[in-house]
Order: sequence, then C-alpha cells, then structure tokens
Amino acid sequence: MKIKISAILFVSFASFLFLTNCTSEVATPNICFKEDILPLFVSNCTQSGCHNGIDKEEDLDLSNYEGIMKSIKANHPYQSESWTQINSGEMPPSPYHKFTKYEKNQIKHWIKSGAPNSSNCRTCDSTFTYKARIEPILNKWCVGCHSASDAGGGYDLSSYDKTILAIPYSKLEGSILHSAGFSAMPKNAGSLSDCDITAIKNWLAAGHPNN
Ligand code: HEC
Repeated sequence: MKIKISAILFVSFASFLFLTNCTSEVATPNICFKEDILPLFVSNCTQSGCHNGIDKEEDLDLSNYEGIMKSIKANHPYQSESWTQINSGEMPPSPYHKFTKYEKNQIKHWIKSGAPNSSNCRTCDSTFTYKARIEPILNKWCVGCHSASDAGGGYDLSSYDKTILAIPYSKLEGSILHSAGFSAMPKNAGSLSDCDITAIKNWLAAGHPNN
C-alpha cells in the first residue's frame, strides 16, 4: 500500500512537472501569422524609408509573408536575421517603438513552430469594447506609425483621447475600409481581417464608447 501511494504521488508529481514545462514552452499558443505576427512587422518596420515595398531598406520588404521569410529561417529563431536584430534591440532604431518581451516571444515561438503562413486560427471575437478589442487592434497594427513620436498623417492612435480625433470625416473608417478618397490603412500592407474591421465598425456605430 505504501509503495502504491508513493508511486501515485511520484506519477502525479512527474505529470505536474511535465505539464508546467509544456505550458511555459508554449507561452503563446494559437499564434497566427496574419493576425499576430504580420501586424508586428508592418507597424514597427515598414515606415517610410524603412523595410516596405518601395524603400526596401537592406533589400527587405517586411510588409508581407514572402518578404518577411527572406530574413527568417523556419524553426531557428537565432539564425533568423530579423528576429536576432529585434531581440537585441538593434531594430527598430529610435525613435520607433521597441518590441516588448511578449511580442519578441510571439515571433520566436512562431519561428520555432516552423514559421507557417497561417491565418484565421481562432474564432472571430465579435465584441467591440475599446479596452478589450479595439485598443489591441490599434496597438498591434497601427501605433508603430501612429504614436506621439511618429504620428503618421498627424494621427496618434496610442490612446483613446487621441484616437477619437481620427474619427471625424470618417477618416478612421474610410482608411481601414480602403474607401476612395482616403489613404488605405494599414499603409502598404493589405487590409485588417474582416473580423477586426467589423469590430471597429461596430464600435464606431455604437458611438465609439470608452469602455
Ligand atoms: C507603416 C506605417 C503605417 C501604418 C502601419 C499605419 N499607418 Fe495610418 N498613416 C500612415 C501615414 C504615413 C499616413 C499619412 C498619409 C499617407 O502617407 O498615406 C497615415 C494616415 C492615416 C489616416 C488618415 C487617412 C486619410 O485619408 O487622411 C488614418 C485615419 C490612419 N492612418 C489610420 C491608421 C490605422 C487605423 C492603422 C492601423 C490599422 C494605420 N493607420 C496603420 C502610416 C501608417
């Protein structure tokens, strides 16, 4: 009996260790290229004069999957030039936003999992509260080019108070819908997902609450 109990304890402890280890290894499960990784490159690396389709600084266009993969070695973050530059803090240069630890980890895990060109990995979150849904979209996709230190077109999208200044004359909506007469956003990098566009449209239609 004694042996049985210690065996059970041992097995439970071992599975606990195994599970904890797994969880920390897969720090950010469900990483999706289009929704999680692409916006980090677009918003932080493709400003005018940098790694976009026109300027191609260092011969790199980081506004799409093919371009990004020229600086990535699938499964090997430490042999992937763009990740090592981001990880060391060398890129992006000042005054641009530096990647957070969480963002660096997301890119690292995506590379380690083979750097797939994945999209729509999660079910669409149709909620549209500012804090939980709208702000994260803007932070991921837009703030790299629309902050206090680098306000593209004069628009700073890094806080609620500043973001609402982009709403009059349908600027915000027109730009993300790529409507005629507006600059298409995110600049030089395709469109937000339908799910993100719907969330922003619903938030605007509800009177853009600060919730
Ligand atoms: C790579 C940099 C970059 C990214 C990423 C970017 N913008 Fe812009 N944005 C600019 C620049 C630069 C302008 C000034 C107009 C131009 O050059 O097209 C601008 C202009 C705008 C305008 C004014 C549009 C108009 O027609 O007057 C809005 C609104 C806007 N951006 C919103 C956004 C939103 C929302 C996102 C994220 C979904 C975003 N931007 C992502 C660089 C960027």
